[in-house]
Amino acid sequence: MCGIFAYLNYNVKRDRRFILEILFNGLRRLEYRGYDSAGISIDSSSSSDPNGQLSFSPLVFRQEGNIDSLVKSVYKDVASIKLNLEELFCVHAGIAHTRWATHGEPSPKNSHPQTSGAGNEFLVVHNGVITNYEVLKETLTRHGFNFESDTDTEVIPKLAKYVFDKATEEGDQSATFSLVVLEVMRHLEGAYALIFKSHHYPNELIACKRGSPLLLGVKELSEDMHSGAPFLDLKFISENRHPKELFLSSDASAIVEHTKKVLVIEDGEVVHLKDGGVSILKFENEKGICGNGLSRPSSVQRALSFLEMEVEQINKGKYEHYMQKEIHEQPESLTTTMRGRLKRGGSTKAKTVLLGGLKDHIKSIRRSRRIVFIGCGTSYNAALAARPIIEELSGVPVTMEIASDLVDRQGPIYREDTAVFVSQSGETADTLLALEYALENGALCVGITNTVGSAIARNTHCGIHINAGCEIGVASTKAYTSQIVVMAMLALAIGDDAISSQARREAIIDGLFDLPNKVREVLKLDQEMKELAKLLIAEQSLLVFGRGYNFATALEGALKVKEVSLMHSEGMLAGEMKHGPLALVDENLPIIVIATRDACFSKQQSVIQQLHARKGRLIVVCSKGDAAAVCPGGSSSCRVIEVPQVEDCLQPVVNIIPLQLLAYHLTVLRGYNVDQPRNLAKSVTTQ
Ligand code: F6R
Repeated sequence: MCGIFAYLNYNVKRDRRFILEILFNGLRRLEYRGYDSAGISIDSSSSSDPNGQLSFSPLVFRQEGNIDSLVKSVYKDVASIKLNLEELFCVHAGIAHTRWATHGEPSPKNSHPQTSGAGNEFLVVHNGVITNYEVLKETLTRHGFNFESDTDTEVIPKLAKYVFDKATEEGDQSATFSLVVLEVMRHLEGAYALIFKSHHYPNELIACKRGSPLLLGVKELSEDMHSGAPFLDLKFISENRHPKELFLSSDASAIVEHTKKVLVIEDGEVVHLKDGGVSILKFENEKGICGNGLSRPSSVQRALSFLEMEVEQINKGKYEHYMQKEIHEQPESLTTTMRGRLKRGGSTKAKTVLLGGLKDHIKSIRRSRRIVFIGCGTSYNAALAARPIIEELSGVPVTMEIASDLVDRQGPIYREDTAVFVSQSGETADTLLALEYALENGALCVGITNTVGSAIARNTHCGIHINAGCEIGVASTKAYTSQIVVMAMLALAIGDDAISSQARREAIIDGLFDLPNKVREVLKLDQEMKELAKLLIAEQSLLVFGRGYNFATALEGALKVKEVSLMHSEGMLAGEMKHGPLALVDENLPIIVIATRDACFSKQQSVIQQLHARKGRLIVVCSKGDAAAVCPGGSSSCRVIEVPQVEDCLQPVVNIIPLQLLAYHLTVLRGYNVDQPRNLAKSVTTQ
């Protein structure tokens, strides 16, 4: 959670208003990561001190609420202290933060930047959690530091000041900004991405990380500079003084509109932006990806990579909300997910699947004793939807683990297991901890993520990118359907050597080719789902029953409704209905039953009968033309939502869409913020 951002212009004149707007814009792009408070730091007037030296002292602005509240309060404060918005800076370093509270309620004092105290000698914006902050706070308090906030972060700038003061007292002239930060890092435990700014090191920034994501974007402003070159040696950057703009951000969405040249900062690296250059010191990590244990740092050279993302992906286009856009772009996102991976034609095998990221590991997966799917929330639900087809085509037993539960139980994971980590962001802390645990236990680890370069993508042995495009709405929609499709392709690839299931596999491949069209068709239910949302707007509660492939649809549909519309909703296994939930049924409680055609259809028909017999208020999702078959007493007894029928294992992709639309419309009609649900944030990078 939380988004951090920084902007440094070098050898190019930018006025204060421009700098503020860049920082605000960066925060708006990251707002989905947290939106309960925000803050920035920029420099005060670049006036000369008595020695004729330019002196910069950092100003801090922090505000409870979203980015718009911050923007208003900053401009108000800037006016009241008579800061000139037109003042030009040839070089200037600004930092910014948008917060999802973990330690301490949303309030200005708990917002970031957190500071070392009066004078803002050291300032820090942080994404993650410092797990040993209490010990550090105690030690620093003994050394005379006073703490003002309830955050874990505040120990970091105070520790930086402590390290700096100690070095100065000892007459150590070599205490560069990066050495101070390296020393701070030695004492920190937990997961973090940090950006430091300091009064002692004007116009410099330091970025470092362990666990949480962080990127550097480089925009060279001289005309002949490597335009379009996909890779650029950072060594070259560190040696040139050309005008440039440098950006640091929790993710690419706040960088892509400025530049596509990025460096994905790695764990243990300390990136120093100074005098137009970028230098990197790296701690070699001795323990796991989330643990502690740092060795001596050494200087490293890295190459920049080229972002594949387009600016259009992060704009709403013709839609009012990101969630709406992302629901409606599923025909395209699914097409991209499958592009280049499905083959029809050829001489020996007519229809097949190619998953480049797994090609060297597919035999080991086939031979594994068990496949364990691990994820949280929607990603877990996607794996649950794919479980039956993986079991069927691979013949390997499949178990499911919610990441946090696996870690809590220290559940058994063996060397002979394949552990598949499913995560849209690739940065979810619970899933990362489970990954670390599975790696320690020697399992073959496979990542399924939507984020190239994410921690899960980097730390698994092999994997598949879902290529659904940037998902900004906090409620996951298009990533869910792409995850299911990727896992269906995984099932096809694992089962590719079995002649007995060839016809089945080919039918699924045909189904995959046609899936975007079916999704286009089901999206036409938009208005119908809006009408249904109007009927349900004042309800307190909603139940969703599914089974087989569509147990996951019930869980995911209910999750979508509850997280955005704030209506209580529960997804349940229809087979469990008689074992308790039936007691809730009366003529008032709306109940959605998923009853599309598959091997469980007749069982779902009897569930509907039983609910009808108890006067249940039924809404049935069924296959086209099945209205009469699913409504016990004719159309007056229940409301029917007809969806196109597809291959059983792909049906969850189609079936979830009316429920996504329902959740969206319910939320908008109830007047809530659909893209930023209360108390939530997109990447849950804290435990
Ligand atoms: C719900 C939702 C969450 C995430 C969960 C895991 O709409 O988005 O339940 O699925 O926080 O996140 P990732 O997939 O990024 O690991």
